[in-house]
Amino acid sequence: MITDDAAGAFFKAYGVEPAGLWAAPGRVNLIGEHTDYNEGFVLPFALPQRTIAAVGPAPAGEWTVCSTFEDEPVSFGLTEPGEVTGWAAYVAGVVWSLADAGHQVPGARIAIASEVPLGSGLSSSAALESSVLTALIDLGGLDVPLEKRPALAQRAENVYVGAPTGILDQSASIRCQEGRALFLDCRSYEVEQIPFDLAAQGLAILVINSNAPHQHVDGEYGARRKSCEDAARLLGVRALRDITGDQLDDALARLDDEVMRRRVRHIVTEDDRVLATVKLLHAGRVREIGPLLTASHVSMRDDFEITVRQVDLAVETALQVGAYGARMTGGGFGGCVLALIDSDKAAEVTAAVEEAYAGEGFTPPTAWTVTAGPGATRL
Ligand code: GLA
Repeated sequence: MITDDAAGAFFKAYGVEPAGLWAAPGRVNLIGEHTDYNEGFVLPFALPQRTIAAVGPAPAGEWTVCSTFEDEPVSFGLTEPGEVTGWAAYVAGVVWSLADAGHQVPGARIAIASEVPLGSGLSSSAALESSVLTALIDLGGLDVPLEKRPALAQRAENVYVGAPTGILDQSASIRCQEGRALFLDCRSYEVEQIPFDLAAQGLAILVINSNAPHQHVDGEYGARRKSCEDAARLLGVRALRDITGDQLDDALARLDDEVMRRRVRHIVTEDDRVLATVKLLHAGRVREIGPLLTASHVSMRDDFEITVRQVDLAVETALQVGAYGARMTGGGFGGCVLALIDSDKAAEVTAAVEEAYAGEGFTPPTAWTVTAGPGATRL
Protein backbone atom coordinates (compact mmCIF):
# COMPACT_ATOMS: atom_id res chain seq x y z
CA MET A 1 0.00 0.00 0.00
CA ILE A 2 1.15 3.45 -0.91
CA THR A 3 0.24 4.74 2.57
CA ASP A 4 2.55 2.12 4.13
CA ASP A 5 5.29 3.19 1.72
CA ALA A 6 5.06 6.80 2.87
CA ALA A 7 4.89 5.91 6.57
CA GLY A 8 7.77 3.45 6.12
CA ALA A 9 9.91 6.04 4.34
CA PHE A 10 9.20 8.48 7.16
CA PHE A 11 10.26 6.02 9.86
CA LYS A 12 13.36 5.00 7.93
CA ALA A 13 14.49 8.60 7.43
CA TYR A 14 13.56 10.08 10.82
CA GLY A 15 13.37 7.12 13.23
CA VAL A 16 9.92 8.06 14.59
CA GLU A 17 6.31 7.68 13.45
CA PRO A 18 4.75 10.56 11.49
CA ALA A 19 2.09 12.73 13.12
CA GLY A 20 -0.22 11.90 10.23
CA LEU A 21 -0.69 11.04 6.58
CA TRP A 22 -2.13 13.37 3.97
CA ALA A 23 -3.24 12.36 0.48
CA ALA A 24 -3.78 14.39 -2.69
CA PRO A 25 -4.80 12.95 -6.06
CA GLY A 26 -3.64 13.39 -9.62
CA ARG A 27 -6.34 14.44 -12.04
CA VAL A 28 -7.88 13.76 -15.39
CA ASN A 29 -9.36 16.75 -17.15
CA LEU A 30 -12.58 15.58 -18.78
CA ILE A 31 -12.69 18.64 -21.01
CA GLY A 32 -11.49 22.27 -21.06
CA GLU A 33 -7.83 22.28 -22.09
CA HIS A 34 -5.64 25.39 -21.87
CA THR A 35 -8.76 27.37 -20.99
CA ASP A 36 -7.65 27.87 -17.37
CA TYR A 37 -5.09 30.64 -17.99
CA ASN A 38 -7.61 32.24 -20.33
CA GLU A 39 -9.92 32.60 -17.31
CA GLY A 40 -12.37 30.12 -18.84
CA PHE A 41 -13.92 26.81 -17.84
CA VAL A 42 -12.51 23.38 -16.97
CA LEU A 43 -14.08 20.09 -15.89
CA PRO A 44 -11.56 17.78 -14.19
CA PHE A 45 -12.08 14.89 -11.84
CA ALA A 46 -9.67 13.41 -9.31
CA LEU A 47 -7.88 10.17 -10.06
CA PRO A 48 -7.94 7.31 -7.57
CA GLN A 49 -4.11 7.49 -7.81
CA ARG A 50 -2.70 9.68 -5.03
CA THR A 51 0.44 11.19 -3.60
CA ILE A 52 0.89 10.56 0.12
CA ALA A 53 2.77 12.90 2.44
CA ALA A 54 3.71 11.43 5.82
CA VAL A 55 4.44 14.45 7.99
CA GLY A 56 5.70 15.12 11.49
CA PRO A 57 6.83 18.19 13.43
CA ALA A 58 10.31 19.77 13.29
CA PRO A 59 11.79 22.88 14.95
CA ALA A 60 10.44 26.20 13.65
CA GLY A 61 12.01 27.27 10.36
CA GLU A 62 13.32 23.80 9.47
CA TRP A 63 11.98 21.51 6.80
CA THR A 64 13.27 18.15 5.55
CA VAL A 65 11.74 16.11 2.76
CA CYS A 66 12.55 12.63 1.53
CA SER A 67 10.74 10.26 -0.78
CA THR A 68 10.59 6.69 -1.97
CA PHE A 69 11.98 7.74 -5.36
CA GLU A 70 15.10 9.67 -4.24
CA ASP A 71 17.89 8.49 -1.96
CA GLU A 72 18.88 11.66 -0.19
CA PRO A 73 16.60 13.78 2.04
CA VAL A 74 16.66 17.51 1.24
CA SER A 75 16.72 20.04 4.11
CA PHE A 76 16.04 23.75 3.86
CA GLY A 77 15.02 26.79 5.91
CA LEU A 78 12.93 29.65 4.60
CA THR A 79 14.14 30.12 1.03
CA GLU A 80 13.52 32.43 -1.89
CA PRO A 81 12.14 31.17 -5.22
CA GLY A 82 14.63 29.02 -7.10
CA GLU A 83 16.93 28.26 -4.17
CA VAL A 84 15.84 24.64 -3.82
CA THR A 85 15.84 22.82 -7.15
CA GLY A 86 14.73 19.43 -8.45
CA TRP A 87 11.61 17.69 -7.15
CA ALA A 88 12.05 19.16 -3.65
CA ALA A 89 11.43 22.61 -5.17
CA TYR A 90 7.70 21.80 -5.25
CA VAL A 91 7.82 21.28 -1.48
CA ALA A 92 10.03 24.29 -0.73
CA GLY A 93 7.76 26.28 -3.06
CA VAL A 94 4.69 25.43 -1.00
CA VAL A 95 6.47 26.47 2.21
CA TRP A 96 7.53 29.71 0.52
CA SER A 97 4.07 30.40 -0.88
CA LEU A 98 2.36 29.95 2.50
CA ALA A 99 4.98 32.09 4.26
CA ASP A 100 4.80 34.75 1.55
CA ALA A 101 1.03 34.94 2.12
CA GLY A 102 1.75 35.76 5.77
CA HIS A 103 1.21 32.37 7.39
CA GLN A 104 3.30 30.92 10.22
CA VAL A 105 4.34 27.70 8.46
CA PRO A 106 5.17 24.96 10.98
CA GLY A 107 8.57 23.29 10.66
CA ALA A 108 8.11 19.75 9.36
CA ARG A 109 9.68 16.47 8.39
CA ILE A 110 8.05 15.02 5.30
CA ALA A 111 8.21 11.70 3.45
CA ILE A 112 6.56 11.34 0.05
CA ALA A 113 5.28 8.28 -1.81
CA SER A 114 3.23 8.53 -4.98
CA GLU A 115 1.21 6.34 -7.30
CA VAL A 116 0.49 9.18 -9.76
CA PRO A 117 2.56 8.42 -12.87
CA LEU A 118 5.26 11.09 -13.25
CA GLY A 119 5.44 13.28 -16.33
CA SER A 120 2.36 11.82 -18.01
CA GLY A 121 0.07 14.83 -17.85
CA LEU A 122 -1.87 13.57 -14.81
CA SER A 123 -0.62 16.33 -12.50
CA SER A 124 1.87 14.51 -10.35
CA SER A 125 3.40 17.86 -9.40
CA ALA A 126 0.05 19.33 -8.31
CA ALA A 127 -0.61 16.18 -6.25
CA LEU A 128 2.75 16.67 -4.52
CA GLU A 129 2.11 20.37 -3.87
CA SER A 130 -1.43 19.75 -2.67
CA SER A 131 -0.54 16.93 -0.28
CA VAL A 132 2.19 19.02 1.35
CA LEU A 133 0.07 22.19 1.40
CA THR A 134 -2.83 20.40 3.09
CA ALA A 135 -0.51 18.77 5.63
CA LEU A 136 1.20 22.05 6.58
CA ILE A 137 -2.13 23.86 6.90
CA ASP A 138 -3.52 21.12 9.17
CA LEU A 139 -0.35 20.69 11.20
CA GLY A 140 0.00 24.43 11.80
CA GLY A 141 -3.72 25.02 12.32
CA LEU A 142 -3.52 27.69 9.59
CA ASP A 143 -6.68 29.48 8.57
CA VAL A 144 -6.76 28.92 4.80
CA PRO A 145 -10.21 28.22 3.32
CA LEU A 146 -10.39 25.49 0.71
CA GLU A 147 -11.13 27.86 -2.18
CA LYS A 148 -7.94 29.86 -1.47
CA ARG A 149 -5.65 26.82 -1.43
CA PRO A 150 -5.24 26.08 -5.15
CA ALA A 151 -3.83 29.57 -5.85
CA LEU A 152 -1.24 29.10 -3.09
CA ALA A 153 -0.09 25.82 -4.62
CA GLN A 154 -0.14 27.40 -8.08
CA ARG A 155 2.15 30.23 -6.88
CA ALA A 156 4.62 27.60 -5.68
CA GLU A 157 4.71 26.25 -9.21
CA ASN A 158 4.58 29.58 -11.09
CA VAL A 159 6.93 31.65 -8.96
CA TYR A 160 9.13 29.18 -7.07
CA VAL A 161 9.53 26.43 -9.66
CA GLY A 162 9.04 28.82 -12.58
CA ALA A 163 6.44 26.93 -14.66
CA PRO A 164 3.75 29.27 -16.10
CA THR A 165 0.81 26.89 -15.55
CA GLY A 166 -2.81 27.78 -14.76
CA ILE A 167 -5.06 26.88 -11.83
CA LEU A 168 -6.55 23.65 -13.23
CA ASP A 169 -4.33 20.98 -11.68
CA GLN A 170 -4.15 22.32 -8.13
CA SER A 171 -7.90 23.06 -8.10
CA ALA A 172 -8.62 19.51 -9.17
CA SER A 173 -6.29 17.96 -6.60
CA ILE A 174 -7.65 20.10 -3.76
CA ARG A 175 -11.33 20.70 -4.57
CA CYS A 176 -12.54 17.56 -6.36
CA GLN A 177 -14.99 15.24 -4.63
CA GLU A 178 -15.56 11.51 -4.97
CA GLY A 179 -18.07 10.59 -7.66
CA ARG A 180 -18.12 14.17 -9.02
CA ALA A 181 -16.51 16.17 -11.76
CA LEU A 182 -15.46 19.68 -10.79
CA PHE A 183 -16.91 22.41 -12.99
CA LEU A 184 -14.59 25.35 -12.29
CA ASP A 185 -14.81 28.93 -13.46
CA CYS A 186 -11.14 29.91 -13.64
CA ARG A 187 -11.98 33.62 -13.30
CA SER A 188 -14.16 33.61 -10.18
CA TYR A 189 -12.90 30.24 -8.81
CA GLU A 190 -16.55 29.30 -8.28
CA VAL A 191 -17.17 25.59 -8.55
CA GLU A 192 -20.06 23.27 -9.08
CA GLN A 193 -19.76 19.58 -8.17
CA ILE A 194 -21.33 17.65 -11.06
CA PRO A 195 -22.49 14.06 -10.35
CA PHE A 196 -20.23 11.80 -12.41
CA ASP A 197 -21.03 8.17 -11.77
CA LEU A 198 -20.38 6.42 -15.06
CA ALA A 199 -20.66 2.85 -13.75
CA ALA A 200 -24.37 3.39 -13.06
CA GLN A 201 -24.79 3.95 -16.82
CA GLY A 202 -22.62 1.01 -17.87
CA LEU A 203 -19.88 3.39 -18.95
CA ALA A 204 -16.24 3.92 -18.02
CA ILE A 205 -13.40 6.31 -18.69
CA LEU A 206 -10.34 4.52 -19.96
CA VAL A 207 -7.10 6.43 -19.44
CA ILE A 208 -4.46 5.54 -22.02
CA ASN A 209 -0.95 6.73 -21.20
CA SER A 210 0.80 7.19 -24.55
CA ASN A 211 4.17 6.80 -22.81
CA ALA A 212 5.44 9.17 -25.50
CA PRO A 213 8.48 11.13 -24.33
CA HIS A 214 7.41 14.65 -23.37
CA GLN A 215 9.10 17.07 -25.74
CA HIS A 216 9.47 20.85 -25.63
CA VAL A 217 6.71 20.99 -23.04
CA ASP A 218 7.80 24.10 -21.17
CA GLY A 219 8.65 26.22 -24.18
CA GLU A 220 5.58 25.22 -26.17
CA TYR A 221 3.28 25.71 -23.18
CA GLY A 222 4.65 29.20 -22.60
CA ALA A 223 4.34 30.00 -26.30
CA ARG A 224 0.64 28.96 -26.34
CA ARG A 225 -0.02 31.04 -23.28
CA LYS A 226 1.70 34.09 -24.75
CA SER A 227 -0.17 33.75 -28.01
CA CYS A 228 -3.50 33.72 -26.13
CA GLU A 229 -2.56 36.71 -23.99
CA ASP A 230 -1.35 38.67 -27.03
CA ALA A 231 -4.62 37.89 -28.81
CA ALA A 232 -6.68 39.06 -25.85
CA ARG A 233 -4.74 42.32 -25.82
CA LEU A 234 -5.23 42.85 -29.57
CA LEU A 235 -8.93 42.13 -29.19
CA GLY A 236 -9.27 44.52 -26.26
CA VAL A 237 -10.53 41.97 -23.73
CA ARG A 238 -9.15 40.99 -20.34
CA ALA A 239 -8.88 37.32 -21.38
CA LEU A 240 -10.07 35.10 -24.23
CA ARG A 241 -12.85 33.91 -21.95
CA ASP A 242 -14.55 37.19 -22.76
CA ILE A 243 -15.01 36.23 -26.42
CA THR A 244 -18.21 34.17 -26.74
CA GLY A 245 -18.93 31.63 -29.47
CA ASP A 246 -21.22 34.17 -31.19
CA GLN A 247 -18.41 36.72 -31.31
CA LEU A 248 -15.77 34.31 -32.60
CA ASP A 249 -16.01 35.09 -36.33
CA ASP A 250 -15.81 38.83 -35.70
CA ALA A 251 -12.84 38.34 -33.41
CA LEU A 252 -11.02 36.15 -35.93
CA ALA A 253 -11.60 38.71 -38.68
CA ARG A 254 -9.77 41.27 -36.54
CA LEU A 255 -6.61 39.17 -36.22
CA ASP A 256 -4.01 39.08 -38.99
CA ASP A 257 -1.95 36.21 -37.79
CA GLU A 258 -3.19 32.79 -38.93
CA VAL A 259 -1.51 30.91 -36.06
CA MET A 260 -3.02 33.27 -33.52
CA ARG A 261 -6.45 32.84 -35.11
CA ARG A 262 -6.20 29.09 -34.65
CA ARG A 263 -5.18 29.45 -31.00
CA VAL A 264 -8.13 31.76 -30.34
CA ARG A 265 -10.54 29.41 -32.10
CA HIS A 266 -9.46 26.55 -29.88
CA ILE A 267 -9.96 28.46 -26.64
CA VAL A 268 -13.33 29.99 -27.56
CA THR A 269 -14.79 26.74 -28.90
CA GLU A 270 -13.33 24.75 -26.00
CA ASP A 271 -15.05 26.95 -23.42
CA ASP A 272 -18.34 26.32 -25.25
CA ARG A 273 -17.68 22.58 -25.27
CA VAL A 274 -17.17 22.60 -21.49
CA LEU A 275 -20.49 24.38 -20.99
CA ALA A 276 -22.24 21.95 -23.37
CA THR A 277 -20.70 18.97 -21.55
CA VAL A 278 -21.90 20.26 -18.18
CA LYS A 279 -25.45 20.63 -19.57
CA LEU A 280 -25.47 17.07 -20.90
CA LEU A 281 -24.13 15.66 -17.63
CA HIS A 282 -26.83 17.51 -15.71
CA ALA A 283 -29.42 15.99 -18.03
CA GLY A 284 -27.97 12.51 -17.49
CA ARG A 285 -27.14 12.24 -21.21
CA VAL A 286 -23.60 11.02 -20.62
CA ARG A 287 -23.03 9.12 -23.89
CA GLU A 288 -23.75 12.32 -25.79
CA ILE A 289 -20.68 14.06 -24.39
CA GLY A 290 -18.62 11.72 -26.60
CA PRO A 291 -18.69 13.91 -29.73
CA LEU A 292 -17.71 16.95 -27.62
CA LEU A 293 -14.68 15.08 -26.28
CA THR A 294 -13.64 14.12 -29.79
CA ALA A 295 -14.22 17.65 -31.10
CA SER A 296 -11.99 18.90 -28.29
CA HIS A 297 -9.27 16.56 -29.46
CA VAL A 298 -9.54 17.69 -33.07
CA SER A 299 -9.32 21.29 -31.89
CA MET A 300 -6.19 20.55 -29.84
CA ARG A 301 -4.67 18.69 -32.77
CA ASP A 302 -5.43 21.14 -35.56
CA ASP A 303 -5.90 24.54 -33.92
CA PHE A 304 -3.87 24.50 -30.71
CA GLU A 305 -1.33 22.05 -32.16
CA ILE A 306 -0.38 20.35 -28.91
CA THR A 307 -0.82 16.67 -29.74
CA VAL A 308 1.75 14.13 -30.95
CA ARG A 309 1.27 11.13 -33.23
CA GLN A 310 1.00 8.57 -30.40
CA VAL A 311 -1.78 10.58 -28.80
CA ASP A 312 -3.68 11.05 -32.08
CA LEU A 313 -3.31 7.35 -32.83
CA ALA A 314 -4.76 6.34 -29.44
CA VAL A 315 -7.76 8.61 -30.04
CA GLU A 316 -8.34 7.36 -33.60
CA THR A 317 -8.04 3.72 -32.55
CA ALA A 318 -10.34 4.06 -29.53
CA LEU A 319 -12.98 5.65 -31.77
CA GLN A 320 -12.59 2.91 -34.39
CA VAL A 321 -13.36 0.23 -31.83
CA GLY A 322 -16.44 1.93 -30.48
CA ALA A 323 -15.49 4.62 -27.95
CA TYR A 324 -18.23 7.29 -27.71
CA GLY A 325 -15.54 9.94 -27.67
CA ALA A 326 -11.84 10.33 -26.94
CA ARG A 327 -9.37 13.13 -26.38
CA MET A 328 -5.97 13.97 -25.04
CA THR A 329 -6.09 15.22 -21.46
CA GLY A 330 -3.60 17.65 -19.92
CA GLY A 331 -1.07 20.10 -21.26
CA GLY A 332 -0.03 18.12 -24.34
CA PHE A 333 3.07 17.05 -26.30
CA GLY A 334 2.69 13.49 -25.05
CA GLY A 335 0.78 12.36 -21.98
CA CYS A 336 -2.56 10.63 -21.70
CA VAL A 337 -5.75 10.12 -23.68
CA LEU A 338 -9.14 9.46 -22.14
CA ALA A 339 -11.84 7.47 -23.91
CA LEU A 340 -15.51 7.22 -22.95
CA ILE A 341 -16.44 3.57 -23.46
CA ASP A 342 -18.95 0.91 -22.47
CA SER A 343 -17.50 -0.52 -19.28
CA ASP A 344 -17.11 -4.01 -20.75
CA LYS A 345 -14.95 -2.69 -23.61
CA ALA A 346 -11.79 -1.71 -21.72
CA ALA A 347 -9.79 -4.80 -22.69
CA GLU A 348 -10.82 -4.57 -26.34
CA VAL A 349 -9.93 -0.89 -26.68
CA THR A 350 -6.64 -1.40 -24.86
CA ALA A 351 -5.68 -4.31 -27.12
CA ALA A 352 -6.54 -2.30 -30.23
CA VAL A 353 -4.38 0.64 -29.13
CA GLU A 354 -1.52 -1.72 -28.23
CA GLU A 355 -1.71 -3.25 -31.68
CA ALA A 356 -1.82 0.12 -33.41
CA TYR A 357 1.25 1.25 -31.42
CA ALA A 358 3.14 -1.93 -32.29
CA GLY A 359 2.28 -1.32 -35.94
CA GLU A 360 4.00 2.07 -35.86
CA GLY A 361 6.91 0.93 -33.68
CA PHE A 362 5.94 2.99 -30.62
CA THR A 363 6.65 2.14 -26.97
CA PRO A 364 3.56 0.23 -25.74
CA PRO A 365 0.86 2.31 -24.04
CA THR A 366 -0.46 1.70 -20.53
CA ALA A 367 -4.23 1.80 -19.98
CA TRP A 368 -6.58 1.55 -17.01
CA THR A 369 -10.14 2.56 -16.16
CA VAL A 370 -10.70 5.29 -13.59
CA THR A 371 -13.49 6.55 -11.37
CA ALA A 372 -13.70 9.99 -9.76
CA GLY A 373 -11.87 9.90 -6.44
CA PRO A 374 -11.75 12.33 -3.50
CA GLY A 375 -9.68 15.52 -3.28
CA ALA A 376 -6.82 16.27 -0.89
CA THR A 377 -7.43 15.15 2.66
CA ARG A 378 -5.91 13.97 5.91
CA LEU A 379 -6.16 10.18 6.15
C1 GLA B 1 -1.19 21.77 -17.62
C2 GLA B 1 -1.24 23.00 -16.74
C3 GLA B 1 -2.69 23.44 -16.47
C4 GLA B 1 -3.49 23.53 -17.75
C5 GLA B 1 -3.29 22.29 -18.61
C6 GLA B 1 -3.93 22.41 -19.96
O1 GLA B 1 -1.74 20.66 -16.93
O2 GLA B 1 -0.61 22.75 -15.52
O3 GLA B 1 -2.70 24.65 -15.77
O4 GLA B 1 -3.16 24.69 -18.46
O5 GLA B 1 -1.92 21.98 -18.81
O6 GLA B 1 -5.32 22.47 -19.84
